[in-house]
Amino acid sequence: MKHSNNRVGATPKPGRRYSDAVQSPYNIGRGDLVYVTTYGCQMNDHDTERMLYQLELNQFLQTQDPSEADVIIINSCSVREKPVHKVMSEIGTYRPLKAKNPKLKIGIGGCVGQQEGKNLLAKSRLLDFVFGTDTIDSLPQILQEVRDQNKRVALTSMDHRGTYEISTLIRNPKVSSFVTITKGCDNFCSFCIVPFTRGREKSRLLSELVTDVKVLVERGVKEVTLLGQNVNSYKSPDGSGGFGDLLRAICDETQIKRLRFTTSHPKDFDDDLIEILVNYREKLGDFVHLPVQSGSSQILERMNRGYTREEYLEKVNRLKNKMPHVALSTDIIVGFPGETDEDFAQTLSLIETVGYENVYAFKYSPRPFTKALKYSEQVSEVIKDKRLQEINDLQERLAPTAIEKYHGQIFPVLVEGPSRTNQNILTGRTTHNKVINFDGKMDLIGHIIPIKVIKAQQFSLRGEVV
Ligand code: SAH
Ligand code: SF4
Ligand code: F3S
Repeated sequence: MKHSNNRVGATPKPGRRYSDAVQSPYNIGRGDLVYVTTYGCQMNDHDTERMLYQLELNQFLQTQDPSEADVIIINSCSVREKPVHKVMSEIGTYRPLKAKNPKLKIGIGGCVGQQEGKNLLAKSRLLDFVFGTDTIDSLPQILQEVRDQNKRVALTSMDHRGTYEISTLIRNPKVSSFVTITKGCDNFCSFCIVPFTRGREKSRLLSELVTDVKVLVERGVKEVTLLGQNVNSYKSPDGSGGFGDLLRAICDETQIKRLRFTTSHPKDFDDDLIEILVNYREKLGDFVHLPVQSGSSQILERMNRGYTREEYLEKVNRLKNKMPHVALSTDIIVGFPGETDEDFAQTLSLIETVGYENVYAFKYSPRPFTKALKYSEQVSEVIKDKRLQEINDLQERLAPTAIEKYHGQIFPVLVEGPSRTNQNILTGRTTHNKVINFDGKMDLIGHIIPIKVIKAQQFSLRGEVV
């Protein structure tokens, strides 16, 4: 379907996304309720924020209850295991709601939407619209067509134009907010679908990002997480700097209290970044997520990761020498095609050598379009399960030592809000990115206060206000 950019009367400036032009509300929503479910990475969490921003601007209201919704959106992820099946079965669960409320419209966005496009409309009559990772800003117009003209719409075009200009659209910024610095990925790791669902890598202007953070600070934000598939390869399109320059500029020129980033790619993780982590420790904390994927150089090569086991370990050593307190976490894929027992043993030994705080391990899942899909020597599910279990067992064995060191320590913690599981206690994260829960008054939210660790568990700490 051809989509007109100025359907609701605004004329976009050349080279700009629709959202930049639409700054006044249109009554597309008429106060109707939208329910969104979100899967996948923090980029998707942030995209949901952007969707809700666009929709509220157009007079929709958010609901947490699908049974009262007039619009349901699934913001999907396709990085692993049967993603299409998952979204389709979720849509199936909404069938009774459609029978009850004939006005209800259901849509799929995110990476499955991008990947499958209009094919999804053919899979289920319950589905009314599909949009992609690059058409979020067109959501109001899509909904106008779907609701007012009774059309079924699929809009998944990718914006390949020059620079990447989007505003950080957040309705009610929390203490901790996201800012996207790059979109897409050019690395083409042989297992990964992201370059196909998010397109080519594009960076936003450094000056624009600094302004975004300043505005968020003015709106009460204390911590920003910079998002990109490979933040280290960030490069301002006007030549004003790379990722290190961006971090320095945000730390020096804004009043942000905490600055985090994800994800760092080991191949581009350099000494400049280590130096910045040391120099701006107060803001950047003592934590790096550095996904290794495998401990075997042979597998890393087949994964097209761009580093060997030795190079990875050397970078980790350089980092630890300068930052002895650093906490590291990683992602691992088990059962990549051709992974032998010896390769896997090397992954176990690398995990032990590095001593990660957290290991996120996944069974290799063949993805469409990717190079590894065609690799022979696929590993059986039984072996994948066994290897996954071995990693989890190893982590369980290593975890007590990794977390015991926190017992009795005092950390400056940014109080983020009530805990998700218990509204009566407060939660925040230590400088090591460990979740810490503690009792305290709600007016502490947004402040950095000293918290003493009284109980250390693998996934969270229990603390008390000092
Ligand atoms: N850009 C990030 C990763 C994004 S995807 C990076 O390069 O580190 C998040 C994680 O999902 C990856 O680190 C990888 O461990 C996992 N993953 C990606 N594709 C996968 C696949 N096909 N099968 C299993 N795990 C996968
Ligand atoms: Fe995927 Fe690799 Fe890009 Fe990460 S760096 S998003 S794993 S292709
Ligand atoms: Fe998933 Fe897309 Fe993120 S595939 S991990 S939601 S980039």
